[in-house]
Amino acid sequence: MKIALLGYGKMGKMIEKIALDRKHEIVLKIDRDNADELTAENLQKADVAIEFSTPSTVLQNIELCFKAGTPVVVGTTGWHNEMTQIQQQCGHYNASMIYGTNFSVGVNIFFHLNKMLAMIMNSYPYYEVQVEEIHHTQKLDSPSGTAITIADGIISNLDAKAQWKNVLVSDDHPNNETIATDELLIESLRIENVPGTHTVIYDSEVDTIEFKHTAHNRNGFALGAVLAAEWIKDRKGFHSIEEMFDFNKQ
Ligand SMILES: NC(=O)c1ccc[n+]([C@@H]2O[C@H](COP(=O)([O-])OP(=O)(O)OC[C@H]3O[C@@H](n4cnc5c(N)ncnc54)[C@H](O)[C@@H]3O)[C@@H](O)[C@H]2O)c1
Repeated sequence: MKIALLGYGKMGKMIEKIALDRKHEIVLKIDRDNADELTAENLQKADVAIEFSTPSTVLQNIELCFKAGTPVVVGTTGWHNEMTQIQQQCGHYNASMIYGTNFSVGVNIFFHLNKMLAMIMNSYPYYEVQVEEIHHTQKLDSPSGTAITIADGIISNLDAKAQWKNVLVSDDHPNNETIATDELLIESLRIENVPGTHTVIYDSEVDTIEFKHTAHNRNGFALGAVLAAEWIKDRKGFHSIEEMFDFNKQ
């Protein structure tokens, strides 16, 4: 398969390595310095594009893929509010796209179990729930896209919560925000050189249940992105990574 890499930072480089190991070919690499080479003509040389750039460049790059008719895997986070607009655009151009806030198998298992746990916790309303996410200090968006997916999974299954509220905390800035009872708190911490960690915490007077995922490195995200490229190549429409990991079938 011929792949275009849109974004050649930490993830782009890791994806290149895994794609080559899986006998794919990289026909285009776009980064900040050569963004002008991202043309329809160049994109059409690829069977699939894999987009891991920045929140401020992702929307434009997706639209270019739609116009070129090149299926696109999007891993960039931080554009959650534009989701409906992109879905409509995808339909308008009869294009192909798969999006995931997190492409790792482990996190997708976590997403699935998180929803099941939220459903169970409806029967135990004396537990208060919150989400905590910790990432390295270079991360541009907050809360993480993964934390948003976790929060959405809780809100759609736990009657007590209607929306999430994010608070960025640090040693200097502890959380002093007031959280309404129907709001789900997402606490974000940014710490030097740490692996990405997501924890769902159900706390009561008598005990605490913690459900936690820790990423040891980026290989899992990169492999998932290449698998998603293989999956989307011959499909049309807007797809989410959950469709690729259909745990309900098992
Ligand atoms: N979905 C997932 O599984 C997953 C996993 C890890 C990271 N991410 C997300 O992926 C994105 C990239 O992460 P990263 O760690 O590789 O970041 P990074 O900062 O290392 O790389 C981003 C790259 O995008 C480049 N860029 C800037 N403008 C561009 C443009 N117009 N076109 C193409 N590239 C351009 C930058 O030069 C940089 O090299 C972030 O949004 C991150 O949150 C998602």
